[in-house]
Amino acid sequence: KPVLFSGMQPSSDSLQLGNYIGALSQWTKMQEDYDAFFCVVNLHAITVGQDPAELAARTRRTAAQYIAAGIDPAKSTLFVQSQVSAHAELAWVLNTLTGFGEASRMTQFKDKSQRFGADTASVGLFTYPILMAADILLYQAASVPVGEDQRQHVELTRDLATRFNSRFGETFVVPEAQIPQGTAKIYDLQEPTAKMSKSAETEAGLIKVLDPANVTKKKIMRAVTDDEGEIRFDRAAKPGVSNLLTIYSVLSGRTIESIETEYAGRGYGDLKKGLVEVVEESLAPVRNRTEELLADPAELDRLLSGAAARANEVANRTLDTVYERMGLLR
Ligand code: TYM
Repeated sequence: KPVLFSGMQPSSDSLQLGNYIGALSQWTKMQEDYDAFFCVVNLHAITVGQDPAELAARTRRTAAQYIAAGIDPAKSTLFVQSQVSAHAELAWVLNTLTGFGEASRMTQFKDKSQRFGADTASVGLFTYPILMAADILLYQAASVPVGEDQRQHVELTRDLATRFNSRFGETFVVPEAQIPQGTAKIYDLQEPTAKMSKSAETEAGLIKVLDPANVTKKKIMRAVTDDEGEIRFDRAAKPGVSNLLTIYSVLSGRTIESIETEYAGRGYGDLKKGLVEVVEESLAPVRNRTEELLADPAELDRLLSGAAARANEVANRTLDTVYERMGLLR
């Protein structure tokens, strides 16, 4: 089977709907056809600062949400990044192969560092995409299912793999990003031209997987739409309504056209009510299963350390080759 690698940051108590639609729901389908590695990337999460107790809790919560959403730990390797030291080691190596200008062109760094100011943004935030490249390359992954916002990072990963291979001999598989059409970017409900994000300034437009049903309902009913009053998909002219239709479509498995037809001549309130039900149907089982898993943290930790053992084995094999090719004593 070809190898798949993907990951998420444990940067909040709950994943958000964009993570669920753009990434997690793809992963669960793909795990059948791939030797899949799903990582909780806690080393990435510390690039913007953290509360230690919170980070530990969020790491377990994120792993639990992977399983609750359908990642099967018997089929896939679901592990925590900090339990596999090769990630940090290969990241250092790749740092030495990355141009300063090349790293400076990463748009996510530009956006995020602006929020902190250039002097307080950490060097770790700057080299973040290089650690991500290490994640992917250690497992010789061919496929990297991610949302649109990660495209540039996977491009950098490809460049680094190709560069290493040509300088030191064929070592890495050059991976490909797998970005779903149409659902690769879910937008904030209050600001439907900005992507839904765990780090959004206000939470009013953010649907969290683990929020209680009434909180999610309120957010959906208050979602920004437009004055036109017609339910049709038009991303440019009607970003709010189009986002609601996208979410509705992907979670219900129905086409946008069939939803437009069902709601033809009706108001936005009706569409929102329908969406509340569709969202609740998808998220309620995830929420319940997550709580069950978190009730037995010892079992969860046992699963994670078993997976880390497997990940260490694969990752260290690659790292051995890398060190040898580069002339680093091991
Ligand atoms: P992160 O934690 O920000 O997001 C996890 C995944 O969710 C996708 N995503 C979205 N998709 C659609 N609409 C949205 N609004 C939305 N918001 C987030 C992201 O594209 C991502 O796929 N750098 C990565 C984590 C990472 C990684 C890796 C991913 C580290 N190493 C190796 C793949 C392979 C990140 O910060 O994702």
